[in-house]
Amino acid sequence: MNTYATVVLAAGKGTRMRSTLPKVLHQVAGLPLMAHVLNAIETIPSASAFASLLSTTNTSRPVVVLGYGAEQVEDTFGERCLYAVQEEQLGTGHAVLAAQKTVDKLELQPQTVLVCYGDTPLISNEILARVLAEHLTHQATITFLTAITDQPSDFGRVVRDADGRVSEIVEMKRATEEQKRIQEVNSGVYCFDRNWLWPALQNLALNPSGEYYLTDLVGIAGKQGRKIITVKGSLDETIGINDRVQLAAVEQLLRHRILERHMYAGVTIIDPATTYIGADVEIGMDTIILPGTMITGKTRIGSGCRIGPGTTIDQSVIGDQCIVRNSVLEETTFEEGVSIGPFSHCRPGAYLARNVRMGNFGEVKNSYIGSETDMHHFSYVGDATLGEHVNIGAGTITVNYDGVRKNHTNIGAWAKIGSDTMLVAPVTVGDHAQTGAGSVVKQDVPPGAVVVGVPARILRTQQSVDVSKAESGEKE
Ligand code: UD1
Ligand code: CA
Repeated sequence: MNTYATVVLAAGKGTRMRSTLPKVLHQVAGLPLMAHVLNAIETIPSASAFASLLSTTNTSRPVVVLGYGAEQVEDTFGERCLYAVQEEQLGTGHAVLAAQKTVDKLELQPQTVLVCYGDTPLISNEILARVLAEHLTHQATITFLTAITDQPSDFGRVVRDADGRVSEIVEMKRATEEQKRIQEVNSGVYCFDRNWLWPALQNLALNPSGEYYLTDLVGIAGKQGRKIITVKGSLDETIGINDRVQLAAVEQLLRHRILERHMYAGVTIIDPATTYIGADVEIGMDTIILPGTMITGKTRIGSGCRIGPGTTIDQSVIGDQCIVRNSVLEETTFEEGVSIGPFSHCRPGAYLARNVRMGNFGEVKNSYIGSETDMHHFSYVGDATLGEHVNIGAGTITVNYDGVRKNHTNIGAWAKIGSDTMLVAPVTVGDHAQTGAGSVVKQDVPPGAVVVGVPARILRTQQSVDVSKAESGEKE
């Protein structure tokens, strides 16, 4: 049986990011850089795609090498990984050596060590599998991933001899003018024969740049006449993020990949250039996303919806056939057929049941709005429960905060709240009740009653209300 362990390097501060946040925690497509790398590692396809991976076993969770901001990184990924610490950041070779103890203690001992960098978020599970498969097929000492580019910038250059055999990797800083022109670069994914790896790392000399370079192992293996195999991947996959310009470039690439996935799955995206959709978002068929829209978190949007323009949705569930125009939704749930906007805001805990219509300048927070309820103009509903078919007049406010605590408002089904009503919570308005324009409701309103004034008092009781007219759906 073949066995391998994975080591992910994440100890560097990421000086070029100019940030207090550890580099691998910077986000692209809404996830930390290293989360993308872990996703790829955890989903390496096995036997079916690559015959030589048959009976290949990953011996454990990935071993992550921590250094700068170790605690913060460990808090973020928790049980998902094992951790080793590189006390001083003396280079990538030094970092892999820091993982030795942890790897050597694994229950199932690996023959192969797969090394990736935590700052290459575009790496795919497929390419990792290909590197592993080639390594095992050729029983190589080192197998590593390369890419061809006419802009090799700060990548390590892959130097080959006259016969095309790899002789070494030269880092940009140490490269001669001629080597700088080499278009084959090191992507930073390696498989090592573990028995060779540890002693070789122990013997690694300090590179003239003052670091122990993992890449120097290639030259050493070459001199020893050992088998070195390269796998060519696409340039995208190898992009390591060193600064915020690269962060933005990768964001754009990843964002485009995500948009394409949705478009192929039946979502219309009118303007991909101004549409941002996070990696974990799901969208149903025939939904149309209009320009200037940002959808993030674990948001789920149903089919046949119209979202945007100018809309932000985070961590929300939107049912089928909903319309959301120029609005902001956070931790919100919509059942089907809800229509909102322009310019409304649903804050955490907003739940709008079937066919609720919420117009402009409305705000709902921590409230249940019953189905078919209308709330068309500049209102605030917070900490409230509304029944179905309620009509919220323009300028209605639930006065939910008494300076100490948040209080609840209940509004029964078919109630009509007159324009500019203040509902001073805690307060209950019964089913079919009505409040007059400008009333300040401080006491519960019985079902069917009509109240007016400041403070509101009963004008009519239930007996005199024509309930059948209300249920016919007529609105004021
Ligand atoms: C590295 C490679 C280069 C390759 C490029 C691909 C080396 C010497 N160079 O360069 O050949 O083309 O990646 O993206 O390996 N790290 C530690 N401890 C350290 C130093 C770094 O854990 O002491 C980690 C970093 O957190 C980072 C990764 O190793 O995640 C790579 O380090 P980085 O400094 O970004 O290397 P590059 O200069 O990009
Ligand atoms: Ca890098």
